[in-house]
Amino acid sequence: MNLYQARQRVEDLRAQVRYHDYRYYVLDSPEISDAEYDELMRELRELEARFPQLITPDSPTQRVSGQPVEAFGVVEHRTPLLSLGNAFDYEELQAWYRRALGILEVEGFPLVCEPKIDGLAVALVYEDGRFVQGATRGDGFRGENVTENLRTIRSIPMRLLAKDAPPRFEVRGEVYMSKTAFERLNEERTDQGQPRFANPRNAAAGSVRQLDSRITAQRSLDIWVYQLGWTDGAYPPTHWETLQWLQDMGFRINPEIDRHEGLEGVERHYRQWADRRHDLEYEIDGLVVKADPFQYYERLGIVGREPRWATAYKFPPIQATTKLLRIEINIGRTGTLNPYAVLKPVQVGGVTVSKATLHNEEDIQRKGIRVGDTVIVQRAGDVIPQVVGPVVSKRTGREKVFVMPDRCPACGTEVRRPEGEVMHYCPNPACPAQAFRWLTHFVSRGAMDVEGLGESWCYVLLEEGLVKDPADIYSLTKEQLVGLERMAEKSAENLLSAIEASKDRPLGRLIFALGIRHVGSEIAALLASHFASIDALTRASVEELAAIPTIGPRIAESVHQYFRDAGNLRVIEKLRRAGVRMAEERAPAPPEGPLADLTFVITGTLASMPRSKAEELIRQLGGSASDSVTKKTDYLVAGESPGSKLQKAQRYGTKLLSEQEFLELLHQHGAM
Ligand code: IVH
Repeated sequence: MNLYQARQRVEDLRAQVRYHDYRYYVLDSPEISDAEYDELMRELRELEARFPQLITPDSPTQRVSGQPVEAFGVVEHRTPLLSLGNAFDYEELQAWYRRALGILEVEGFPLVCEPKIDGLAVALVYEDGRFVQGATRGDGFRGENVTENLRTIRSIPMRLLAKDAPPRFEVRGEVYMSKTAFERLNEERTDQGQPRFANPRNAAAGSVRQLDSRITAQRSLDIWVYQLGWTDGAYPPTHWETLQWLQDMGFRINPEIDRHEGLEGVERHYRQWADRRHDLEYEIDGLVVKADPFQYYERLGIVGREPRWATAYKFPPIQATTKLLRIEINIGRTGTLNPYAVLKPVQVGGVTVSKATLHNEEDIQRKGIRVGDTVIVQRAGDVIPQVVGPVVSKRTGREKVFVMPDRCPACGTEVRRPEGEVMHYCPNPACPAQAFRWLTHFVSRGAMDVEGLGESWCYVLLEEGLVKDPADIYSLTKEQLVGLERMAEKSAENLLSAIEASKDRPLGRLIFALGIRHVGSEIAALLASHFASIDALTRASVEELAAIPTIGPRIAESVHQYFRDAGNLRVIEKLRRAGVRMAEERAPAPPEGPLADLTFVITGTLASMPRSKAEELIRQLGGSASDSVTKKTDYLVAGESPGSKLQKAQRYGTKLLSEQEFLELLHQHGAM
């Protein structure tokens, strides 16, 4: 294939991928299977690897990895991003409409109702059908240039479908994080000892305003486009038709949009939504009501920053006030002291709330919460109840400032707070509360998944002294079990076979089950695929661990420490002797393979793929990839702006490969 043919094929593949991205991410109705899609992407990547001159920033292959952004530049918005006035009840909404009718001297005008998405406003500029710039709202006049980060959001089209799009225009929309993605992210952050995001909006904003767009790429973000900002070309005469027009170009337009002839329809719609809002996969805090015909916009004008042609019809917040009776402490499986509020039971949006999480001591101090306070409790969507803050005016003077106990409430050991961390820990590995949390975690569904071993049995086994650590479950006998109250012979047999079945879980599950601080299920899976056995993981140095992408120094340190603890190693030995699987089924690197016995080091940036991908391909072919050049290194692959490794390699006489040569090598062995 020559360059000319390759270009044709690359363009054809990109058009296909874009179309299927649109079907999948925007319309939610794919036409081809994942495998067929992967095949298109694979062919495109292969061609781009062979002809790197054909790589363009808007190619679908460039989307996921993202390039680190140096620092955000400033973008001047051509027309300001406005705010909205609020209406908190029907009367206020009527007042808004009446005012507009008065100015326009008309009897009525049609209105468009849209969900008011709780996310982060962005402005997207397109030129000749390509996405060229994305910015945050900022102060409305000047925002941050977050183009690279927005490129990682799959529902933002990089190229438009319609051929007749205006040559230059800007659309506006809300980037948001779904409730599930938000919960998942927060769980992951708790596992890794990072502060939680208060709500999906903060999580979305925090993710878009990341200096490293690889982080943005890992956060499931989405967009609803809700407005045409400006354009040099022609556009439809109404907002309703404009949304349809934008949708046809490939933008993701919210399906819950409605058009009404007057206010009555809007009010009916609003009442339905006040309940239905919780069924949505994302948070909304009201409706946006907009005049439909653009011909009125100019005459209605803008007051301050708020246009008169639109308003936000807000839902009543789901908050309530109640008394904070006590702050209690839960001991987490890794020994974290987790404070929570015990509340006088109160109804919040149809649910009785008597407990709410308080995260950590700093969080309590920052919010100024004292024991005995009347507090505002909030339920945001499906998220767990939160204490927003105290009602200071209701204080009697008898409220008490909370201090974290200096001893573990379960075992009395002095607690510690590692420098730079927000959590306090009980360092006693034999702490009964920890043993309970560890055991319940070990047998839980995402870990070793021992069916039938729920919290109450865990408690009984520990109480009876049959189990001291999770490994002991593998030496339980039928006699011991039937000796327990309410354990029939049949249940004992079932439990024993469930325990037996759990010996063969994949390595990642076992690593997760070990309850290593900061190691959630995803990190555990990563460690499993990287080291392929508990023994290799035990031997790993902090440097080796920290060299794995997405594993930071804190996780590396924590994993390393875990395997230096004699008690932990004893548990692992017991697990091994019981016959629990300690390695991936597949050997880590196939001893055979075209690159067997060869060691590669990569330096600088590769244009065709992230370094982690290159290393994975080397391993697939039987070679090993390392981080530092030694006398034993066989090849140094030098990408763009190579570092000091290059000089070192020259000193040792290591063979050098350019990126192109490296790609050819991979290609020759069928890895690409
Ligand atoms: S229209 C003047 N439509 O609400 C027009 N905004 O309070 C303002 N928002 O900054 C934009 N959903 O971030 C519009 N369907 C929607 C919206 C929406 C959420 C946000 C947007 C804006 C803020 C104004």
